[in-house]
Amino acid sequence: MDTKIYAISPGKSNLSGRYKGIYKPVSIAYDAGHMPEMTNEITICPMAEEDLDQVLAIERSSFPSPWLRQHFLDELNSPHAFPYSAFDPSGRLVGFICPMLLLDEGHVMDVAVDPSCRGKGIGRLLVQRVLDDCRARGASFVSLEVRVSNVAAISLYRGMGFLETGRRKRYYKDGEDALMMEYVFAGE
Ligand SMILES: CC(C)(COP(=O)(O)OP(=O)(O)OC[C@H]1O[C@@H](n2cnc3c(N)ncnc32)[C@H](O)[C@@H]1OP(=O)(O)O)[C@@H](O)C(=O)NCCC(=O)NCCS
Repeated sequence: MDTKIYAISPGKSNLSGRYKGIYKPVSIAYDAGHMPEMTNEITICPMAEEDLDQVLAIERSSFPSPWLRQHFLDELNSPHAFPYSAFDPSGRLVGFICPMLLLDEGHVMDVAVDPSCRGKGIGRLLVQRVLDDCRARGASFVSLEVRVSNVAAISLYRGMGFLETGRRKRYYKDGEDALMMEYVFAGE
């Protein structure tokens, strides 16, 4: 799958209005942080407030203690966060990721894919986008926490080169431990 196509053809999909909105500002340059990314079928672009109903539906179907709308609004308004939404060709939001970059430390706060769209590479695409952005912005590493029972996510992160760096005891509300994982850019 090609994950590096940055050319957009407005009018070719239901997302063209969204693209226009993104391309309008003169400040838009060849910058991974602002450019939507098209693959064969999935488009990744910066999350917008209008995405939140769909984001919340996926969030609620993905986590036992889902984030509230305010959490996502905080991410949208944070100078350190750069959340992304993933859309299918019909314009349906099929996944999202909430990363942040503070100084040279990247962190993934939240990532989820619509249950009906899992296993198709969308999660990997979202995480890869964040790694690419953080690398381009000079990050030393990207860290995250994941439930020790979350086989799918742990397998995704391991497969992408994240290493386990520790464990946070009873990190989650229900008492489950978190595995701490880190992707390190040094030496790449
Ligand atoms: C984790 C999650 C984001 C993965 O998204 P996805 O789009 O289904 O994942 P992908 O299709 O990109 O899969 C990439 C890799 O992840 C791993 N993976 C994905 N689903 C898996 C599963 N059910 N079991 C084991 N490994 C799995 C595989 O290594 C896979 O690579 P492969 O296809 O070459 O085998 C998705 O399962 C999800 O939304 N889960 C609920 C929310 C969540 O747990 N988020 C993570 C919080 S830390």
